[in-house]
Amino acid sequence: MTTAQAHPNIALVKYWGKQERSGNFPATPNLSITLAGLTTTTNISKAARDTFVLNGAPADDPKLWRWLKTLRGSFDIPPLEIHSSNDFPTSAGLASSASGFAALITAINALCELGLNEATCSQWARIGSASAARSIYGGFVALTGPLWLAVPIAKKDHWALEVVVAITSTDAKNVSSGEGMERSRLTSSFYSAWLRDAEADFTAASDAIGIKDFTALSAVAELSCLKMHSVMLTSQPTLSYWTPASITCMDRVRSLRSSGHNVFFTVDAGPQIKAVCLSASADAVASALGDVPGVIKIIRSHLGDGARVIE
Ligand code: PMV
Repeated sequence: MTTAQAHPNIALVKYWGKQERSGNFPATPNLSITLAGLTTTTNISKAARDTFVLNGAPADDPKLWRWLKTLRGSFDIPPLEIHSSNDFPTSAGLASSASGFAALITAINALCELGLNEATCSQWARIGSASAARSIYGGFVALTGPLWLAVPIAKKDHWALEVVVAITSTDAKNVSSGEGMERSRLTSSFYSAWLRDAEADFTAASDAIGIKDFTALSAVAELSCLKMHSVMLTSQPTLSYWTPASITCMDRVRSLRSSGHNVFFTVDAGPQIKAVCLSASADAVASALGDVPGVIKIIRSHLGDGARVIE
C-alpha cells in the first residue's frame, strides 16, 4: 500500500476554458497558491479489480476511470484499490479534484515505480483536471504555455500569505467545472475578452508576487475572479455559483480593505469565498467573515507544500 497527500490550490489568475485539442490544455495561463489547511489523503494498493472509495463510500467517478485508462495507455498499471478522503467539503468549489488527481498520480508513481519526475506528474495530473497540475507543487505555482506543465514560481516562504476560507454551502455543485467552462466557451459573448486579457493578468500577478506588492496582487486577482464569474454568468444557461452569503462576504472583504486591512477575495466554481490576506489582518478577516449570516464554517490556511508520498 502507498499513501500520498496533496493540498488543493486556489487560482489567483483563473483558468476557465480549454484549448480545442485533446489533453486538457487550459486556454489561458493561470497561477495559484497551494493551501496547507486542506488536505486530500489517498492510499492505493494492487487489487483484483479497480475500486474507488471516496470519503469512506464506494464511488463511481467516470472522469477518474477515463484518466486511468489513458494512463494505462502509457504505463503498465495493475488494477487498483483506491481510497481517497478529503478533510474539507468535496466538489464544492474547494478544488478537491486538484488535490485528488495530484495525490493519486503521486501515489501511483510510487506504488508502480513509474519513475516520473514532478514535471511529468504535473502533466498527468493536468490530464485528470487542469488545476491538479498546480497541486504537485507548493507555494506559488504557474501553469502556462507552451508546455502547459505547472512551474513553481516562488516557495511558500517567499511571502507568508494566509487564506481565510468562508464556507457558505457544502452542497456539491450542480454543474462541474469541465462542463461549465465548455458552456462558457461556446455561449458567453464575454469569453473572447476573457482570453484577450489573460496574458496581461498573468504577467501582472507574477510581477506582483515577485516583488511582494499586495496592492497590485489584490487588484489583478480580484479582477481575474470577477471576470471569470462574469463569463460564467453570461453563459447560456447561466452559471451562477454564488449564495447570498458569498456576495455579503465579498462586500465585507472590500470594507475590511477600506479600513486598512491587506485582504482580497477570490471565488472558484462554487459558493466559497477565499480571502487572501497578510498575517497581520488574518484574525480580523476570519472574525468578520465568520459573522456573516450564512457562513457555515471558517477554515484558515497558510501556504502549503506540494504532493508527496507519506508512507
Ligand atoms: O481544474 P478544473 O477543471 O477543476 O477547473 C478549475 C477551474 C477553477 O477552479 C474555477 C479555476 C482555477 O484556475 O482553478
